[in-house]
Amino acid sequence: MKIEEIVDLTFKDLQNASQDITERYRAGKSLSSEDQKKAYLVVRLPATSAVMRRVLQEVNEAVESALDLGAGPGTAIEPLLERFPMLKKMTLIERDRTFIEMGKTLFLNEKVSWIEGDLTKQPSFEPHDLLMISYAFAEMSDAAIARLIPMMWESTMKYLVIIEPGTPAGFARVKKIREQLISLGARCVAPCTHSNRCPMEGNDWCHFSERIERSSLHREAKLGTMGYEDEKFSYLIVSKTAAPASQMRILRPPMKRSGHISFNVCSEEGLKVKTLSRKDKERYALAKKLDWGDSLS
Ligand SMILES: C[S@@+](CC[C@H](N)C(=O)[O-])C[C@H]1O[C@@H](n2cnc3c(N)ncnc32)[C@H](O)[C@@H]1O
Repeated sequence: MKIEEIVDLTFKDLQNASQDITERYRAGKSLSSEDQKKAYLVVRLPATSAVMRRVLQEVNEAVESALDLGAGPGTAIEPLLERFPMLKKMTLIERDRTFIEMGKTLFLNEKVSWIEGDLTKQPSFEPHDLLMISYAFAEMSDAAIARLIPMMWESTMKYLVIIEPGTPAGFARVKKIREQLISLGARCVAPCTHSNRCPMEGNDWCHFSERIERSSLHREAKLGTMGYEDEKFSYLIVSKTAAPASQMRILRPPMKRSGHISFNVCSEEGLKVKTLSRKDKERYALAKKLDWGDSLS
């Protein structure tokens, strides 16, 4: 079944429900009505799944089993199957029955099993190669997150992936979780290229952006005239088995000038500006293709 077949709302109801979503998420609340959950499929799922697709590109080892926590309507199913065609098993935990029913209808797949339950009440999680939690920590208290992290790390066989909104609050959560995970022995893989103290401080926050084409239904829901939106996100990938693939991460859109390109990067030595001159032909040719969020060696 397609999203358009589930979302049987009038444009007015869709607009109201998508407005409610924005307000509830700003207030750190979960969605409450069925209309809001239907609207989520139109105005949020395309963005969160696009971010997952982008983030999962940073996972470079084979993954055969994946556990997604706070799975919503199964947003992660297609991005995970696309990134890891060899995936044998995917488990999704979600407390909201309406979302589970929607996910079962939208993304029917024999590799997927759903568990209905509250993450904060689970005694442990079954081990999987990759654990992911995307856009769900905002609905939990700091204390609940701090209790979940060691359980999640314990069940991670290879990678743990955390995705949050690209806001100062989302990044602050990621930064705190990063410290906790490093104290448990985790090694950062992305976006961090090192596991030293995070050098991002003050009013700045580490975040990235993914451009998403809006469907016509999405434009109606958001009363938007633009054909696209830029979804900002913060994330962290830590691993038990892998090391970072590069030495630097590009933290801003590159500054292209005549004869050189400058990149704001994060590296083991902290935040710095790396400039590549046209004279350095080979590296300059490669650098010209790089963008915000890419890694640089
Ligand atoms: C914003 S949605 C994100 C859904 C999906 N991960 C995505 O990125 O599109 C957050 C989801 O986390 C779920 N959630 C929040 N707290 C939870 C908890 N304590 N136990 C289980 N699910 C939870 C909510 O029900 C909701 O479906």
